[in-house]
Amino acid sequence: MLSTVRSASRQVATRSIVSRTCVAARQASTWADVPQGPPAILGITEAFKADSLMEKINLGVGAYRDDQGKPYVLPSVRTAEDKVIAAKLNKEYAGITGVPEFTKAAALLAYGPDSSALDRVVITQSISGTGALRIGGAFLARFYPGAKKIYIPNPSWANHAAVFKDCGLEVEKYRYYNKDTIGLDFEGMVTDIKEAPKGSVFLLHACAHNPTGVDPTIEQWKEISKAVKGGGHYAFFDMAYQGFASGDTDLDAFPIRHFIKEGHNPCLAQSFAKNMGLYGERVGAFSITCEDAAEKKRVDSQVKILVRPLYSNPPVHGARIASEILNDPALNKQWLGEVKGMADRIITMRALLKKELENLGSKHDWSHITSQIGMFAYTGLTPEQMDKLAKDHSVYATKDGRISVAGITSANVKRLAAAIHAVKP
Ligand SMILES: Cc1ncc(COP(=O)(O)O)c(C=O)c1O
Repeated sequence: MLSTVRSASRQVATRSIVSRTCVAARQASTWADVPQGPPAILGITEAFKADSLMEKINLGVGAYRDDQGKPYVLPSVRTAEDKVIAAKLNKEYAGITGVPEFTKAAALLAYGPDSSALDRVVITQSISGTGALRIGGAFLARFYPGAKKIYIPNPSWANHAAVFKDCGLEVEKYRYYNKDTIGLDFEGMVTDIKEAPKGSVFLLHACAHNPTGVDPTIEQWKEISKAVKGGGHYAFFDMAYQGFASGDTDLDAFPIRHFIKEGHNPCLAQSFAKNMGLYGERVGAFSITCEDAAEKKRVDSQVKILVRPLYSNPPVHGARIASEILNDPALNKQWLGEVKGMADRIITMRALLKKELENLGSKHDWSHITSQIGMFAYTGLTPEQMDKLAKDHSVYATKDGRISVAGITSANVKRLAAAIHAVKP
């Protein structure tokens, strides 16, 4: 009996030591000092989901929606995917730089069939556009002969600064947006390029600037090219929306092609998330135009050395789909039509929104909505007005006044215009 009591009390004592140890262990948790990060852009989607109003509108997410507000899988993508599946290919690893038929076609799409860059460009498949920027940032951090710094537009896609800082680059901003005109601060941009230390690296959005939707004109691009050249600078193009801006993949690639013609040897991040709607498949490419074949060989070897410890080699499925679309002439033609269809729907929604605002008697000039291009419109609304849009009208978008035009439909445009008119009478 006594021994049972003793053993029971020993068990209690042991339990309390264990529980004290657990508390101590909890207090000394390895991650106890990890701070809470700020809510990401997806916070908008969460707020949108939590809103019970039937007529709520989500203009936060940078993904195309059809006129019913639904995600859109391009018919050319469906056909290409069926072909890939029917081919019953094996699931072996791709090489470090990915599916060669895809990267070759991606380079052709970006640089154009007559480009002098084609036989001296090093290209690797990447984890969509973000991965391409990351490889580029890492390559610059390791090999760029000048300062480990990159100039990005003010404002820029929010992830640019994060990606480049994580690559170990210092990030500085050049003037881009003029909030008084809700347009391009061309003078400021060119002045900043000219005044930057010789050999600086400039990140340029090739088309459909995110978040502003404000792009330089062709004439302005020519001046930008001269300023970059004059300063002995280096251009890094981010082309996440080729075809999506104007509906024409050649026109949208004008800046990079012009820079090549003018003798620059830029690098380029490409994404097929938007123009093929392959968001979750993560299909992209990073390329660097080299001076000659010998330089290409050296750079190519180092790109492989850089990618290998990052993720060994990229996923194949999405790249195979993109490759079918780019390499099969009939599918390619169909896809170009579908890209134009997406761009045209966005252009139509811009015009409709402007018209509805004018019909409501708005005294403001909304011409920037139609002069801007691509998936986003910078409305010029203040953070307070954006808050009101969400709270009083269930219209959700980022606080900087950016709306995703892809989220506008013929069914919600009237209500959206009324909401904007209410917060900015
Ligand atoms: C300017 C810009 N660059 C790059 C990306 C990268 O997108 P992803 O990694 O989905 O291809 C985006 C996506 O929104 C973007 O807007």
